[in-house]
Amino acid sequence: MELFTPTTLGALALRNRIVMAPMTRSRAAADGMPTDVMVEYYRQRASAGMIISEGIAPSADGLGYCRTPGIYNAAQVEAWRAITDAVHAHGGSIVAQIMHVGRVGNVLNKPADSETVAPSAIRANGEMYTDQQGMQPFDEPRALSLDEIAAVVEDYRQATGNALAAGFDGVELHCTSGYLPAQFLSTGTNRRRDRYGGSPENRVRFVLEVLQAMAGVAGASRVGMRICPDNPFNDLHDENPQQTFECLLQHVAALDLAYLHVIRFGQGRVDNLALGRRYMGDRLIGNESYGLDEAQQAVAAGELAAVSFGRNFIANPDLVERWQNGQPLATFDIATLYTPGADGYTTYPRAGN
Ligand SMILES: Cc1cc2nc3c(=O)[nH]c(=O)nc-3n(C[C@H](O)[C@H](O)[C@H](O)COP(=O)(O)O)c2cc1C
Repeated sequence: MELFTPTTLGALALRNRIVMAPMTRSRAAADGMPTDVMVEYYRQRASAGMIISEGIAPSADGLGYCRTPGIYNAAQVEAWRAITDAVHAHGGSIVAQIMHVGRVGNVLNKPADSETVAPSAIRANGEMYTDQQGMQPFDEPRALSLDEIAAVVEDYRQATGNALAAGFDGVELHCTSGYLPAQFLSTGTNRRRDRYGGSPENRVRFVLEVLQAMAGVAGASRVGMRICPDNPFNDLHDENPQQTFECLLQHVAALDLAYLHVIRFGQGRVDNLALGRRYMGDRLIGNESYGLDEAQQAVAAGELAAVSFGRNFIANPDLVERWQNGQPLATFDIATLYTPGADGYTTYPRAGN
């Protein structure tokens, strides 16, 4: 089956087309440090064609959820090195998903010297979990100044360099789900009157500057981007996501990135996969609720270069082998998705064990 054959996306070599989707699992230490149990988790899943890491913050401001990792200091880089080494030692490849939460944070989940920042000072409706006080409202963000926007772009540049220094094969920009890049793109979260707000050309500027910064360090052939144009997650709203993403992808196509990672989920206003195909049709990774047969068909038909799987990888560290051998899949325990420690994280056995 084509799904089990190797391919390349830019400079990234995939040993099969079954990609592990990025998943936040909240097993880092409180200071954004990757932990030993994370080394084991990623090592167990190294037979994926390529692993996309959980979202990793490019700065302390970029952290917002409890026990999530960063890649903005030397100790973090060193700890990530143990993870990439473990994956490579098993013949796998791994890219770092760079994720800045922007306004989606709570002060209890953030380092003491950090702030909750966004394109505009508009608080997201809703709550998030904190270890100290359970569910808490999202912080009121402070709007970034022009100088601060330039500094955030620099943070992404630095994080990309750090990811390469830590041994990652590439980087992926998290550009969906209501986090900072999506906040710049969308009319509901971006009310700026300067060159970063207003027209689609202005709202896509931040994302393009970030991608150029990342590509400037890693080379475009090691940079991917994840999108889900009509995603309402974290109180995100855009008046015309089709227009916004047409504008963005026209520019992105010219950058010659390694891949575009498209979550097909939406509210019916945009056909995400069709849009992605129009601009980067030969290097699409598709995602969201794929099973083996549908993924195989999409790859065999040439519609997708690869398919990423999230939930299926949680309880099936050997997902690739299980599908190859026709073995049944295990189901995961929702109660331990985000709890600290090994339980429900590295405790799922391989088939037959
Ligand atoms: C526990 C969990 C954590 C997730 N964390 C992230 C994340 O950090 N970054 C991201 O882009 N998507 C994240 N997602 C979304 C997944 O990457 C994926 O898009 C989603 O699970 C749908 O794919 P699936 O149907 O194969 O599970 C997460 C999903 C789950 C279930």
